[in-house]
Amino acid sequence: MARTPFIAGNWKMHKTGREAVETVTALLPLVAPAEGVDIVVCPPFTALADVGRVLAGSRVELGAQDMHWEAQGAYTGAVSGPMLWDLGCTYVIVGHSERRRHFRETDDDVGRKVAAAFAQELVPILCVGETLEERDAGRTEEVVARQVRLGTADLPPQAAGQLVVAYEPVWAIGTGRAATGEEANRVSGLIRGWLRERFGDAAEAVRILYGGSVTAQNIEEFAGQPEIDGALVGGASLDPRTFAAIVLAAAGRA
Ligand code: PGA
Repeated sequence: MARTPFIAGNWKMHKTGREAVETVTALLPLVAPAEGVDIVVCPPFTALADVGRVLAGSRVELGAQDMHWEAQGAYTGAVSGPMLWDLGCTYVIVGHSERRRHFRETDDDVGRKVAAAFAQELVPILCVGETLEERDAGRTEEVVARQVRLGTADLPPQAAGQLVVAYEPVWAIGTGRAATGEEANRVSGLIRGWLRERFGDAAEAVRILYGGSVTAQNIEEFAGQPEIDGALVGGASLDPRTFAAIVLAAAGRA
């Protein structure tokens, strides 16, 4: 099945509202020639409203980096799906390894967020991936299988095909040490297989991204793999020229 390539930029805790607006203002003309690729930027919460106004009506979509699973309530400091939707978000990153590690998010939390995102008309980008310790212990498959299973535990089957999964080995994030295309393709194939067991043919429509030290230089290695449909880009998404180069390379594969 032909899946539309997908490139998302995760800005993490970078850029004020003004800096974010400058970045997307520079990005839009650079990605204008990129056809047949879905493009998403995920600024910090504080820049979503400003960036959303710049992106309105453009082909670049807006995503958030996290959300709470409840629509509203006594959760000081948290942000909910309807609040994100109201700002123009259509995607939300869920279960990023930095959330799991620094904020103690569990697989169950992640599963609740995935289900809540769909209930609130946002498409979740579910992040999974093993640590270096888990990899060295030969536990990659066990860990990623569990994250996929619990992350999609409450996912309504009719929504499954819209899901986006990002395979991000933790040891490759922000380290300059990307996985090989072959290895990322192998794990992505396993992820699709596990999704197929649960959701049947809908798994063929799921976009599976690679994330971890993706650059304009190595994107081809991932975008060229049959099981990989694009990338979740951190550091290299902060510069509009670099991010646009990644988008254009992925579009060339369409
Ligand atoms: P990186 O981050 O591209 O800076 O390695 C990827 C991510 O955390 O999504």
